[in-house]
Amino acid sequence: MKQRILAQIPDSHPWRSLVQYLEETDSTNDRVKALAKTGAPHGTAVIAGQQTAGKGRLGRSFHSPGGMGLYMSVLLRFPCLPDQLMHLTCAAAVAACDGVEKATGLRPGIKWTNDLVSDGKKLGGILTELVSAPDGTCAIIGIGINCGQAQEDFPPDIRDMACSLAMCGAADPSPASVAAALLEALEKVSWELTTGKKPILEQYKKDCITLGKEICILQDGAAVHARAVNIGEDGALVAKYADGQTRSIRFGEVSIRGMYGYV
Ligand code: BTN
Repeated sequence: MKQRILAQIPDSHPWRSLVQYLEETDSTNDRVKALAKTGAPHGTAVIAGQQTAGKGRLGRSFHSPGGMGLYMSVLLRFPCLPDQLMHLTCAAAVAACDGVEKATGLRPGIKWTNDLVSDGKKLGGILTELVSAPDGTCAIIGIGINCGQAQEDFPPDIRDMACSLAMCGAADPSPASVAAALLEALEKVSWELTTGKKPILEQYKKDCITLGKEICILQDGAAVHARAVNIGEDGALVAKYADGQTRSIRFGEVSIRGMYGYV
């Protein structure tokens, strides 16, 4: 697998020599976090054939069976504090869409904040973790993409909500080609971030399928209905409530009416 990934990354790519492949690991995010502590450079990537403890957002797990998906984490180092990187999660999502599109011809949508969706179903997800370092911040961008699954390969509890590149009719949905394209897209976006976040946020808004939709926000055990109207400069979702007020949402679960079983 590692050779298949490297075969698709140009020799001149600065991150080519920083790719590690593991047949099986607990979580590629945890592996990269451990490498970051030992001083691993910007661009270090860990890709696994399967994960035994794949992590999702909000403390959930990410189903990571062998031979069917891409599980990849990349270390990005920034010379700033974590609170200056709130838009990074949007940048990672745009890079993921760029990479999947380059590898397969299919551009996923983004369900705020970081679900990759196609045909109204979840194709993958992104877990961004930030860790303070003496010289700035380490960002661990973990991307999981369902590549070869058929519907019956998903566990019953997510079967109706999940899809794969193969199910969406993507050309060449191999984890190796998607991994190579994602690495290139992440490197490009990490450069673009140094020259200003505006174009990335504009692209995020184009890809974000949550905008304009009726949503249900679950925060601190309460469900509130609103309409998603914008994405803030920090990547927050701006929602307009029934009383006409707008508020920014930075965390929590947001369901879109008509998706993932929410009617
Ligand atoms: C989500 O859907 O909530 C985010 C899923 C992120 C999954 C990826 S797979 C590679 C990396 N390692 C992990 O443990 N999680 C991320």
